[in-house]
Amino acid sequence: MGTMTDATPTSSDPTNGNGRRLIRHARRLDNVAYEIRGPISAEAERLERQGTEILKLNTGNPEIFGFRAPEAAVRSIIDNIGTAQGYSTAKGVPEVRESIVRRYAEVPGFPEFDVEDVFLGNGVSELILMVTAGLLSPGDEVLVPMPDYPLWTAATSLAGGTAVHYRCDEDADWNPDLEDLRSKVSDRTRAIVVVNPNNPTGAVYSREILEGIVRVARENDLLLLSDEIYDRILYDDAEHISVATLAPDLLTITFNGLSKAYLAAGYRAGWMVLTGPKDHATEYIQGLELLAGTRLCSNVPAQYAIPAALETHQDIFDLTAHRGRLLEQRDIAYEGINSIDGLSTVKPMGALYNFARIDRNVHDIHDDAKLMLDLLRQEHILLVQGTGFNWDAPDHFRVVTLPPKDQLSEAIERLGNFLAHYRQ
Ligand SMILES: Cc1ncc(COP(=O)(O)O)c(C=O)c1O
Repeated sequence: MGTMTDATPTSSDPTNGNGRRLIRHARRLDNVAYEIRGPISAEAERLERQGTEILKLNTGNPEIFGFRAPEAAVRSIIDNIGTAQGYSTAKGVPEVRESIVRRYAEVPGFPEFDVEDVFLGNGVSELILMVTAGLLSPGDEVLVPMPDYPLWTAATSLAGGTAVHYRCDEDADWNPDLEDLRSKVSDRTRAIVVVNPNNPTGAVYSREILEGIVRVARENDLLLLSDEIYDRILYDDAEHISVATLAPDLLTITFNGLSKAYLAAGYRAGWMVLTGPKDHATEYIQGLELLAGTRLCSNVPAQYAIPAALETHQDIFDLTAHRGRLLEQRDIAYEGINSIDGLSTVKPMGALYNFARIDRNVHDIHDDAKLMLDLLRQEHILLVQGTGFNWDAPDHFRVVTLPPKDQLSEAIERLGNFLAHYRQ
């Protein structure tokens, strides 16, 4: 007879029908969600495998809609591939980090920083996971916008912290509600996340709003985490202001990368820069260095795309300027959505998205995920429901404005026809 070991299922361990002890995920994943690639996107992939063509308006992935990374960035990876075989230092290749120092030296008012204040990551995503993992103990809170780019909420939960959402106000062009932000600060709050230009709303915040956010951080000794991955995707006369320029007296971490403005999401090349005083944060910064070291370094060939990409401003400006492809698509999505009975949307001033509102007096929707699933199955269009961005009512969804004009117009027309007959 075998002896009882730790591995032997006990009566309290849940087992499946074959008597095998269930392998379950960690409890800290219970509150982690990322609907952009969630179950509805999995259903789209299943339909695709069966041969159905799906129009995927769920991820901000420029390449699948025919955008190409700057030629110089591609060339730089090719030219350096032979010398990029080893690990780099944990924060990244020094010359690459120097190119990032030079980039911000051109941003008026951006506080000076050193190559040691730059960390490279496998996309901004990895750095978001790193800054939250390094900061949060159980019970610590992070102020995250609502709606949000959901990785910020997911990473906060994964790190053992709690995301507390501050409201962005659709009636005020999706600007953060500063009163709400202030009211959400508690003695457990550690940081404020700012996503500007914003995903999913396309809002670009004014100086006054940003100064208001910085004031709340200053009054409460909070770390500022500023996700600026869309800082060069701006429409009409929108101007982007980096939070760090308004907060030289506060530790601020600014995030950016090649995925959006440089159209190279697949390279997984991102960076973060630390500005402001650091003497009070030595332990935290050492923690970040420790975490950067534990993943050894970010992908080295992709690091070499960064300096070359940073020298090519023009590609993205051509796309967002008058007659530029991204601007025209922004207009088509904005006008098309507003022309559908029971839908409305605020004009995005930056980024690659439209966050559309469903008037529930016209369309009686009570489950926005089901709406997305039904739209996918019937019209073969994949969008993401507003609750996937931690919005607190089932009355929004996000449209990615990357597809060419014809595809975008057709998708919006089909969406309108679908909604005209749809009932839940
Ligand atoms: C606001 C925001 N931050 C970060 C990311 C992730 O970027 P990366 O591709 O650099 O990981 C995205 C991607 O959509 C984003 O929208």
